Amino acid sequence: MNGPADHRRQPDARLDEALMGTALTIGRHNLGIAWPNPAVGALVVRHGAAGPVILGRGWTAAGGRPHAEPVALAAAGAAAAGATLYVTLEPCSHYGRTPPCTDAIRASGVARVVAAIEDPDPRVAGRGFTLLRASGIEVTVGPGAELARIDHAGHIRRVVSGRPHVLLKMAASSDGKAGLEGRRPVRITGPAAQAQVHLMRSQADAVLTGIGTVLADDPQFTCRLPGLLDRSPVRVVLDSALRLPLDSALVRSREVAPLWVVAGIDAPTEPELALRELGIEVMRVADGADGGLALDETLRLLAMRGITRLMVEAGPRLASAVLTADLVDEAALFTGPAPLGAAAIEAFEPLALEAMNHHLIETDTRRHGDDLLRILRRR
Ligand SMILES: NC(=O)c1ccc[n+]([C@@H]2O[C@H](COP(=O)([O-])OP(=O)(O)OC[C@H]3O[C@@H](n4cnc5c(N)ncnc54)[C@H](OP(=O)(O)O)[C@@H]3O)[C@@H](O)[C@H]2O)c1
Repeated sequence: MNGPADHRRQPDARLDEALMGTALTIGRHNLGIAWPNPAVGALVVRHGAAGPVILGRGWTAAGGRPHAEPVALAAAGAAAAGATLYVTLEPCSHYGRTPPCTDAIRASGVARVVAAIEDPDPRVAGRGFTLLRASGIEVTVGPGAELARIDHAGHIRRVVSGRPHVLLKMAASSDGKAGLEGRRPVRITGPAAQAQVHLMRSQADAVLTGIGTVLADDPQFTCRLPGLLDRSPVRVVLDSALRLPLDSALVRSREVAPLWVVAGIDAPTEPELALRELGIEVMRVADGADGGLALDETLRLLAMRGITRLMVEAGPRLASAVLTADLVDEAALFTGPAPLGAAAIEAFEPLALEAMNHHLIETDTRRHGDDLLRILRRR
């Protein structure tokens, strides 16, 4: 039997925060594979005399649909009538590839909707809340907002700025170096930090690197944590002249996760055809004002393809270029315990360090084994 309906009780702000915390946690389930949509979490809760009872839960499916709300409402079934729906982002109100979530919510008979934040997507932007309120549903906005803005940073950046949220990862030695003399690779961090990097990859829609790293390290940029290979991100290489070797680990692992190559306008067509033959996508962009391929144009192309969360795992050249262009929203800076010596290459160019200090601020510090991880976010 159903307990008392939510609308007959006074909303409890602390309980709303706690339940939104749960909705945010389950919403993270498909972070990295829900793109082009945000990874949303939803809970249908009945506030009975003995406390809250979760009747249904849902999160955005891989590829972006179904959305979290209809999944949670379907799980709750008829019991949703009179209950509260907790959702980490404003429900959509427009016809996309699926009917609007506001229709499903109204049909379910829920009495109250608690949402963490408004969806800045101009097709929604408060319209979802207006529609729900017009149907007599009580709407509360705000619980869990701070965390929701972090979880949905990719979606927000894409709809507001037309580019993905950019997370820059860099590992530096205790003396600030990222590679050996002659751009030879070197292991800087230990297994715990490396596992953390793989976890970050699993929550990224795509990883962006430069051809310098590909030629030096022959990386895969897949997620090789046990059982998470299918969470590997799209791999994107900036390669002006299409020097990417066909026998590179990136090309060989093309069945594990898509590989996209960004080439210059003048790159030869032969390697492009060879790559295309292997199912690798090649796109071309013009050079930027500061040399190298235009980064703003590259990020716009990725956003147009649906990428919301981009992790940059590159050498000092590309890492410095994204910082200097003020395209970094978040940085994960690992520092290993050992120095590499004066002849090794600096992790960042001086202008990039200046930009980092100017635009980003440290928000968290953690240890992963012998390595230090500092998290910086846009001020
Ligand atoms: N410690 C770490 O976290 C880490 C991570 C990765 C790599 N590494 C090390 O870094 C070294 C390689 O460094 P790197 O600086 O040469 O590699 P990178 O930054 O990954 O690649 C740089 C190359 O990318 C291409 N590129 C195209 N557009 C660009 C743009 N707008 N800005 C910058 N680059 C652009 C350029 O080559 P084209 O002109 O041919 O397009 C450029 O030379 C190796 O020693 C590697 O082991 C360290």
